[in-house]
Amino acid sequence: MLVLYRKYRPKVFSDILGQDVVSETLKNAGRLDRLAHAYLFYGSKGSGKTTTARILAKLANCQKRQTDEAFKKTGEPCNECQACVEIDNGRALDVIEIDAASNRGIDEIRNLKESIRVSPAALSRKVYIIDEAHQLTKDAFNALLKTLEEPPTHAMLILVTTELEKMPATIVSRTQRFHFKRLPLETIIGKLKSIAKLEKINISDSAIELIAASGGGSFRDAESLLDQISSLARTNTDKTQTNTDNFTQDNINKTETKNK
Ligand SMILES: Nc1ncnc2c1ncn2[C@@H]1O[C@H](COP(=O)(O)OP(=O)(O)OP(=O)(O)O)[C@@H](O)[C@H]1O
Ligand SMILES: [Mg+2]
Ligand SMILES: [Zn+2]
Repeated sequence: MLVLYRKYRPKVFSDILGQDVVSETLKNAGRLDRLAHAYLFYGSKGSGKTTTARILAKLANCQKRQTDEAFKKTGEPCNECQACVEIDNGRALDVIEIDAASNRGIDEIRNLKESIRVSPAALSRKVYIIDEAHQLTKDAFNALLKTLEEPPTHAMLILVTTELEKMPATIVSRTQRFHFKRLPLETIIGKLKSIAKLEKINISDSAIELIAASGGGSFRDAESLLDQISSLARTNTDKTQTNTDNFTQDNINKTETKNK
């Protein structure tokens, strides 16, 4: 079974909740064909940074946009063409996600610099998403500077971080920056409720509110918690219906600690 936060990951900008400035600006850039070559997405965890990076990768590569002027005006990827589908499935060779937490050093950046020069294999734009970018070493950042300033025209770099203050100013100034806000509880509650409805999870409003609050403003944490609690309830109660009404703050706390 697909975990909830993957299943309900937004596929277009308009599905991203609470980050209107980011979504509107990127959609406009898409409409006008003014996509930048280097972006920095920063802000709180579970607020949509990686999700937005993948949608942007689709926008840069969507084949329907390239042929259909009317569609292009939406500023969204089509999610139907081969490029969009492959990126969604994580199968696109030209969309490269690097976890800087485990690839921190200068060697990894040297590899990146070599590979970024090579034209894309199938898509029109090679997109590098560097997650946890603040974890790169000083030398790695230095090695990245030149590439960031002038990436090949066939490439796009998206740096992603929760800790802007740990990023060197020289790097930050070479990117177009987008701030992801911590999401209001109401927004998270709203999405959890609609997921519960679609998944036929029978859960009370107060339990949903507790789950949202325990997520601490992170959509991913809240959605994972809902996932765990509903599968726990599924094994505990009758198999046909998920009943989570008897979940209390105490149980949620236990689930959370187990998860850490
Ligand atoms: N703004 C949002 N609107 C709707 N769903 C969201 C939003 N942000 C996050 N989510 C949900 O949370 C999941 C995780 O989001 P994502 O990976 O984009 O977070 P992130 O900002 O990259 O977090 P982290 O900093 O921890 O990597 C998504 O799959 C999606 O289901
Ligand atoms: Mg992320
Ligand atoms: Zn497409």
